[in-house]
Amino acid sequence: MSAQARRARPRADATRETRNVMTVPFYRHGLDESYAEAVANVLRSPFLTSGAVSKAVEAQLCAFFDVPHAILVNSWTNGAVAALMALGVGPGDEVIVPAMTFIATANVAELVGAKPVFVDVDPATLMLTPQSVHDAVSERTRAVIPVHLYGQMCDVRALRRALGKRTDIAIIEDCAHSFESSFDGQLPGEHSDAAIFSFYATKNVTCGEGGAIICRSAELFEAIAQTRLHGMSAGAIDRFASRRYRHWDMVRLGTKANLPDLLASLLPPPIATIASGCRCARLSSDATRRRSPVRRSASSRRWPAPCTPVISSRYMFHRGCATASSRRSTNAASARRSTIARCRR
Ligand SMILES: Cc1ncc(COP(=O)(O)O)c(C=O)c1O
Repeated sequence: MSAQARRARPRADATRETRNVMTVPFYRHGLDESYAEAVANVLRSPFLTSGAVSKAVEAQLCAFFDVPHAILVNSWTNGAVAALMALGVGPGDEVIVPAMTFIATANVAELVGAKPVFVDVDPATLMLTPQSVHDAVSERTRAVIPVHLYGQMCDVRALRRALGKRTDIAIIEDCAHSFESSFDGQLPGEHSDAAIFSFYATKNVTCGEGGAIICRSAELFEAIAQTRLHGMSAGAIDRFASRRYRHWDMVRLGTKANLPDLLASLLPPPIATIASGCRCARLSSDATRRRSPVRRSASSRRWPAPCTPVISSRYMFHRGCATASSRRSTNAASARRSTIARCRR
């Protein structure tokens, strides 16, 4: 058979698959022309980079999560690198990450010269468990990055308890999928050292590319503000905030991860409306699952168990549903290879 004929012949299994597949418009976003004015206002101002607009969004995030500190970054990935640098994580250190996540969660450990240690997730919920984290802790462990995958949430308070007296181990929540989630009333950032969000194009809250870090410690916040901006003691907006010029110095090694006002200007409406939007739902009821079209089209597949009492952001929940039956967490030895193969956006 010629190559052309082979291409034209429909594969039996492909036909069977497409009959049951629902198409989810992955890149459809909620930003429209009404946002142009906010961008135009930044263009009319003298300050394009991180300035007054960013500060206002940071204050909005502090109020949303009820935390004292928030800082905008230009991606989850760069924010996590800045946070690890601020915590002093580097060569010789280990960072515990779930074997089931997007590659960035592990990459950031490598980027600061540390070793990512892959830990199996609970196959039912796809979350890290306190026991598996406890078992993976070594003398070299300096951080754990639990991932609230597909809009659900890990029990961060329980993870903290599992670390016992190891107060030298930081918990950094990967909240790339979980802006408006909560676990038994716990919000992101409540029991961790820092929680990091992604405002990448497909996220529930987006500005195309971006992210934010929230934290409770003033000391850590100050350090992240520096590692996010070349290790400088004061960014441009702070240098010119008062009439007297404030001198700056390089006080530590830093990267470049700040978000410009041009992009930050897109964030206030999505943040203001996310909690009241219809995306936020309690997943404990079977009725919620039955209503989903994915449920109808994939009836033979097993659903990931909602980690009750979670209020999920439902970000990518369809993906967790469709793949839970075929995905199994792996043992630590093979995790690295399989994570890269499995974890695609
Ligand atoms: C779980 C998880 N962590 C981290 C990231 C990285 O986010 P960003 O693209 O903002 O760096 C993603 C991106 O999709 C993700 O899904």
